[in-house]
Amino acid sequence: MVNGTIGALLEDDGSLAINATYVDAIKASQAVDVAAYSPLAGLPDFNDLLVELALGPERPTLLDHLSARAMATPGGGGALKLTAANLVESGGVVLMRDRHWGPYLGFLGEAGLGRRTWPLLGPNGADVDVKGFEAALQTTVSEQSQVLVWLNDPAHNPTGLSLQAESRADLLEAMVDSALEHPKVGHSLMIDAAYTLYADEPHGWATTLAEAMDAGMMWPENLMLLWAVSLSKSHTAYGARCGGLVALHPDIEALDRVYEAFAVTGRGTWSGPPRAPQSAAVGVHEDAELASAWSDRLDVLTDLLARRRTALLEACASRGVSLNPTHDGFFAWLEHEHPSDVVDRCASRHVYLVALNGGVRIGLCAMPEASMERVADVMAEALEVVG
Ligand SMILES: Cc1ncc(COP(=O)(O)O)c(C=O)c1O
Repeated sequence: MVNGTIGALLEDDGSLAINATYVDAIKASQAVDVAAYSPLAGLPDFNDLLVELALGPERPTLLDHLSARAMATPGGGGALKLTAANLVESGGVVLMRDRHWGPYLGFLGEAGLGRRTWPLLGPNGADVDVKGFEAALQTTVSEQSQVLVWLNDPAHNPTGLSLQAESRADLLEAMVDSALEHPKVGHSLMIDAAYTLYADEPHGWATTLAEAMDAGMMWPENLMLLWAVSLSKSHTAYGARCGGLVALHPDIEALDRVYEAFAVTGRGTWSGPPRAPQSAAVGVHEDAELASAWSDRLDVLTDLLARRRTALLEACASRGVSLNPTHDGFFAWLEHEHPSDVVDRCASRHVYLVALNGGVRIGLCAMPEASMERVADVMAEALEVVG
């Protein structure tokens, strides 16, 4: 039996992969950190860490030109909630690619929002459809006074796609151009960075932004860039509910106003975020030895995923099973019109995968490297039967 339905990173023996440095730090929390409330927006040192996690080495360059604000949330999901509740008027749509994490729809539903999608891939399998994005943006700008984009990159769930540098630059340019052309429409681009620390370029969006600013990019007043940061995967702390929302804009007062609104939403939704996981994260990242142990373990887990991905890609290629482009993170993807039929067929051979809208999600995070030949065999058989 091979179970590729689980969305958490498992060791080859099926147990949960753990980055013990962080989990041990939570376990060693001071009583007061467990018992006391967190400030509503999170501990100041944790807010600082959120900015660091979002921007990485580009932080000093970017903060030469821009201001940053951060708020702790119960995981990246909390950050999604804050943007849905505050950055687009009820009744509107949020823009996203047509393959996306299913729970996005729940956040939208709660906020009285719909979605408008653009295609995941461009012509000839390109990693981006800039024209599709521009068209979706243009329609939305003509209908709404606020536009919000959720872009889960790099290491996209459910495909493992990571946008290349040029594609990121093209999307950023489209967003900036639209904001300049429509100065009365608020533009927010939120990078959902849930899996970013498992990617080859974990701070690629910060680099793209720094390069654009270096090249003279004019920052429109009506543009905000945000990162939904999650410690669930990067620190293997899914249950700790730790993450946050980081935003960049040239005007700190504009950010302060938005973050006041975020804090009110947080207060009315989850009260304050858990405090001990924030303190523990600060403790790990402030201590060179602990930070290095955490980072070494992250490297081991990233390598585990890379080996599984390479094994699956090779096994599929040799059997004529054509997967979507997939680079980083927890998943790979088979595009298919009848995903349930494919998945049922695979299940009858005891390989379990997830049927989603438009295709089959393959949880590399949960399947041992040694099982990939069998997974590819079974998918090839299923495709032969289903077509
Ligand atoms: C694409 C994506 N975004 C955000 C999240 C949020 O995760 P959490 O709220 O646990 O940080 C997840 C979790 O699975 C995800 O897959």
